[in-house]
Amino acid sequence: MSSKKQPARVLTGIKPTGVPHLGNYIGAIRPAIGESLRDDRETFYFLADYHALVSCRDPEKIQDWTHTIAATWLALGLDVERAVFYRQSDIPEIPALTWLLSCVTAKGLMNRAHAYKAAVQDNLQAGADEPDRGVNMGLYTYPILMAADILMFNPHAVPVGKDQVQHIEMARDIAGCFNHAFGKHFVLPEALVDENTAVLRGLDGRKMSKSYGNTIPLFCSEKKLRQHVMKIVTNSLEPGEPKDPDSCTLFQIFLAFVEDEAERAAKRQQYEQGAAWGLLKQELFEILNASLSAPRAEYERLMADPGFMESVLRKGAERAREHATPFLEQLHQAVGLRALV
Ligand code: TRP
Repeated sequence: MSSKKQPARVLTGIKPTGVPHLGNYIGAIRPAIGESLRDDRETFYFLADYHALVSCRDPEKIQDWTHTIAATWLALGLDVERAVFYRQSDIPEIPALTWLLSCVTAKGLMNRAHAYKAAVQDNLQAGADEPDRGVNMGLYTYPILMAADILMFNPHAVPVGKDQVQHIEMARDIAGCFNHAFGKHFVLPEALVDENTAVLRGLDGRKMSKSYGNTIPLFCSEKKLRQHVMKIVTNSLEPGEPKDPDSCTLFQIFLAFVEDEAERAAKRQQYEQGAAWGLLKQELFEILNASLSAPRAEYERLMADPGFMESVLRKGAERAREHATPFLEQLHQAVGLRALV
């Protein structure tokens, strides 16, 4: 009999804070959906709504963003029969595990977290009398909740952006402390940072990011999409003057959506022959619109049917808890939270 390898387990969390943009799609959603289609992968993807509470006290927004992100992933082709897709707050084992982990995590480790240090730094710079001003305990212990998200399912790999790598290292540290104290219960997860995934540039040419306000929303109306593309900053070269595709934001976005080598070469040639910016923008808009219009329609359908989205998330939670419930029980036993007889 051939020895069939166990599929590698991959897990990642998506914080529902804001409306997804093209950069999220190219940098995170599309590669994650690609992973979920591989037979040698077992994928766990979840909406990190507990994490969203750290920075948002508007209940309607939390609910709406959760709906939006879930609908976005489904509309873009996530197959929820393959991937286990769930909402963090539907898994009560996660906050329970957070506590077990908190009790083996050094406070000093949290002092070193980038997000916390940045908040303190901002306060010091602003001359605040209290370095921890505005820092809630959710922000401070964010890495422990994140470690619980991960360790609950013992994944091998956690695909994340560079900004999250420190959190994965902390999850490894915390797992190591727990294993040392109570036996080897946790796999040490690896951060998976895909260097090949394009970091999409935004309207102003910097990395497309909500914090720069330079994004193109994924599922806005066709008219809005066109307006956004028209706003992408180019230079002042006139029609007829040769243009450099490699330094051009339009071309970079084009490459993210068009794989065909012949089409890519033809587009390069258009640049070299001095096509007008207006034409290049119009053509980019058409390409984006052609690949987004079917998912956009599906997204709109899912946004109009919260009952269906809710049932999808609940089914995902049930599947996730098939792992989480017995595993938490095992951990309770290990730390001594046991029946007396
Ligand atoms: N902190 C991540 C972010 O801000 C989201 C997240 C929460 C996450 N829990 C996770 C990512 C667990 C990977 C694994 O993007």
